[in-house]
Amino acid sequence: MTLAEMAKALKDKALSSLATVADALSLDGFFSSYLSKKGEINSLMSKMKNVPPEEKAVFGAAVNEARNEVAHAFEEKKRALEEKALEEKLKRQAIDITLPGTSFEVGATNPYRLIVDEITDIFLNMGFEVVEGNEVETDKFNFELLNVPKDHPSRDMQDTLYFDAEHLLRTQTSGSQAHRMLEAKEKGPIRMLSPGKVYRRDEDDATHSHQFGQIEGLVVDKNISIANLRATLLLFAKKMFGEKRQIRMRSSYFPFTEPSVEVDVSCFKCEGKGCSTCKGTGWIEILGAGMVNPHVLEDCGYDPNEYSGFAFGVGIERVAMLRYGIDDIRRIYTNDIRFLKDFKSK
Ligand code: PHE
Repeated sequence: MTLAEMAKALKDKALSSLATVADALSLDGFFSSYLSKKGEINSLMSKMKNVPPEEKAVFGAAVNEARNEVAHAFEEKKRALEEKALEEKLKRQAIDITLPGTSFEVGATNPYRLIVDEITDIFLNMGFEVVEGNEVETDKFNFELLNVPKDHPSRDMQDTLYFDAEHLLRTQTSGSQAHRMLEAKEKGPIRMLSPGKVYRRDEDDATHSHQFGQIEGLVVDKNISIANLRATLLLFAKKMFGEKRQIRMRSSYFPFTEPSVEVDVSCFKCEGKGCSTCKGTGWIEILGAGMVNPHVLEDCGYDPNEYSGFAFGVGIERVAMLRYGIDDIRRIYTNDIRFLKDFKSK
């Protein structure tokens, strides 16, 4: 066999070997056997130095032709293998866009939370801060600092659950007033809101629950009068129940406020004409309030000759029931999905 024939034979061998290559790994192996520096084509070329001068041209051309053809076939194979790999990958990852998607239901915010957020927003805009209170409270903060000494008859109105003689489940959020005043490092002005759960030993029915929510409000500053209380609550009523609302204050009693008032808002259902929501009176009771009793200011470290203030307490569920026309307080707690779905858009 002449050297030129050897070049042709090598080319044929390489091409038929390439035909059996079916993956990237054996393609690598093929490259190093034939086309790399130490591969068979180069080693055939290295025989050039022994070739007589008159045959050099023929031999060189034969080897170069072999190299070019094999290199070309190699590139083709490489591209074909890559294409095949890509196709397989796409097939594996194929998504059938005609299949229905997995749908999941988005929950809704409970009306209790909606009302807390809404009321909090209204007062944050008036410069109030939000303060967290304690659900397990001491007798001192739930009663005594609020002007309700141990044997005071008004304790009976808020009978609750005691852990021991000093610790109880709070009956009202008003204890957070005492905390805020007493714990103030500088006895300066206060504008605070404190939402949370309270507990009373009540029988549960459509409008009562042994556990419910309140939002406490407290403002303490120099020259605070009942006019400020009225203006603040009127603004709140308008934001909460509509611009046309009016409020009225009726005399009431709380040990920690003096004077004390019940605040009614004009009925937003019938515009005050009288309907089932307002029980025909045109007014709906929404909260208790009053001017902070000077004894409370004093016991909490504020000089009542220098400072005065007002406080109010709103029932969260009560507002939610009015606002959303909920007929039974227990709906707010039982997490019936059919009920909660109604609040999706709110
Ligand atoms: N704590 C009172 C209650 O639970 C409400 C209230 C708060 C009244 C603040 C006046 C001032 O009934």
